[in-house]
Amino acid sequence: MYKCVQRAILLALAIPLSRAELPVLAFGQPLNPAQLKALDITVFPDGRNLPDGRGSVRAGRSLYAGRCAMCHGASGVEGPSARLAGSDGFFGWSDPLRPLRILQYPRLMLSVGGQWPYASTIFDYVRRAMPHYAPKSLSDEEVYALTAYILHLNRLVEEDTELDRHSLPRVVLPGRAREVSAWPEKPAD
Ligand code: HEC
Repeated sequence: MYKCVQRAILLALAIPLSRAELPVLAFGQPLNPAQLKALDITVFPDGRNLPDGRGSVRAGRSLYAGRCAMCHGASGVEGPSARLAGSDGFFGWSDPLRPLRILQYPRLMLSVGGQWPYASTIFDYVRRAMPHYAPKSLSDEEVYALTAYILHLNRLVEEDTELDRHSLPRVVLPGRAREVSAWPEKPAD
């Protein structure tokens, strides 16, 4: 009985809250510019649609420690969630402990730094999906800082780097050279 009352109270509290956060749109109802802006967050490989703002490796370091390290590990390698760092992305064949490392981290053989082709994708992904427990809770400045820090963990940018919409797309990831496009560019007619 007590449980039922508790659940009813929780439901009564939860429903108006979630309604307030998620406006319900009718099918076919046009979005106003502000609603559209909140949804128009795709960042393209060449950096198109990156927002204003900037963030430094140093700011990213403390954000990462507080909001990301518990799942991705202190240096982006230890997990338990997806591996973020590792400049070649794989446990090298020359690594004598390779079989043991694979046994310990079977899902972590590929890393963002080793595999992903574009730095701007890190920004896009983190902004829309991380931290896992609260997606879209980070400000653009925080996402710039975290992106800079992930790139620094991969030794792709220096400690004193600050990234913005112009400098971020200029960082070249090693994964770019390994990429095979599913939509190869057609030669010009
Ligand atoms: C509660 C655990 C958790 C926290 C905290 C967390 N992540 Fe993640 N992260 C995950 C999981 C799980 C995945 C894989 C999700 C999937 O593949 O659907 C992931 C994936 C990622 C990826 C893509 C990895 C890949 O190879 O696909 C990036 C980049 C990333 N997280 C960055 C971050 C950053 C930056 C933060 C801190 C703001 C963060 N994460 C916080 C659990 C977490």
